[in-house]
Amino acid sequence: MKARVPFLDISAQVRPLHATILKSWSRILATGQFVLGAEGEALERECAGLLGCRFAVAVHSGTDALVIGLRALGVGPGDEVLTTAFSFFATAEAICLVGAKPVFCDIDPETFLMDPLDAARRASRRVKAILPVHLYGLPVPMAPFRSLARKLNAKILEDACQAFGASDTDGNCGTLGHAAAFSFYPTKNLGGAGDGGLLTTNDRKVADLALQLRNHGSTRRYWHERLGYCSRLDELQAVVLRAKLPHLKAWNLRRQALAGVYHEGLGRVRGIRLPSAKPSCIWHQYSIRVRDGRREALASHLAKDGVATSVFYPSPLHRQPAFAGKKAGSLPAAEQAAEEVLCLPIYPELKSSQQSQVIQSIRRFFR
Ligand SMILES: Cc1ncc(COP(=O)(O)O)c(C=O)c1O
Repeated sequence: MKARVPFLDISAQVRPLHATILKSWSRILATGQFVLGAEGEALERECAGLLGCRFAVAVHSGTDALVIGLRALGVGPGDEVLTTAFSFFATAEAICLVGAKPVFCDIDPETFLMDPLDAARRASRRVKAILPVHLYGLPVPMAPFRSLARKLNAKILEDACQAFGASDTDGNCGTLGHAAAFSFYPTKNLGGAGDGGLLTTNDRKVADLALQLRNHGSTRRYWHERLGYCSRLDELQAVVLRAKLPHLKAWNLRRQALAGVYHEGLGRVRGIRLPSAKPSCIWHQYSIRVRDGRREALASHLAKDGVATSVFYPSPLHRQPAFAGKKAGSLPAAEQAAEEVLCLPIYPELKSSQQSQVIQSIRRFFR
């Protein structure tokens, strides 16, 4: 049965853009220029302009942006990378894919973001980079990571996959470290009609390396300076993203308004804890904590009321079989978050009447 309040409604977002997208797609189908063409270049220019960085390199996915970003920053076998234990798998997968070792750090239980004090405790001389994640669309306060990076002579790669358009007093996500990775996966706040990603930086050398790496390490046709990847963003995707880009600011504002309504409507409900109401967040997810082991019960109650929810993420990274090594209890804040978080529907097309159903249903559960 289809939920009355779906967790996400991607087709509703694309519907008003159909005509624009189809017109450009027809033109591209007629020219046959499917990769590394004018649409991709225009997207890179527009993203760089919007984010306020010097260079933007479009790639095949957010994961590739992380891998290429790490390599372009000089991270490789034998190096360590400090990162959060509470993120999507790809954050740490990318570190392993370049031959380095992820050093998992605990999170601040208030914000779900990587804790800089714990990072400093776990740092060694082998650390070549720090990879914090702007989780759920909330910018990581960067100052403590910058001073740690200076002390370690390490680079900062932002995982901005959930935070296109988010900014705080420090600047825009994507411009706060030495480089940043974005994802255009369809469910992201700027999502394509398939996979896509972007690497941003203000460093020309990093950008030049990324341009090579995304295209088989090639500097000119059939000349390869190094091993790279087949990781270009195709033109059909660039069209979809360019059609969405002018709406992103309004969409992010709508997410912020919806978060405000959740805060208001759920503020007095006992048994849950709301995410901190930071104005810098663009609310890629609205993630509440459900106390006393009642998350699954609340999720099934909401499902019965026709409200879909999701859990990002049910297992912290250090407990994933692919990285297993750390004992339960070694990163307690991340482990507790994984047990408690429940993400509620939040997207620009969510109707106020649908949001009320979510709020009423949660209130009924705890009454
Ligand atoms: C925090 C984070 N990092 C990395 C990724 C990987 O992006 P992609 O799925 O485009 O490879 C995602 C998205 O799935 C993500 O949410």
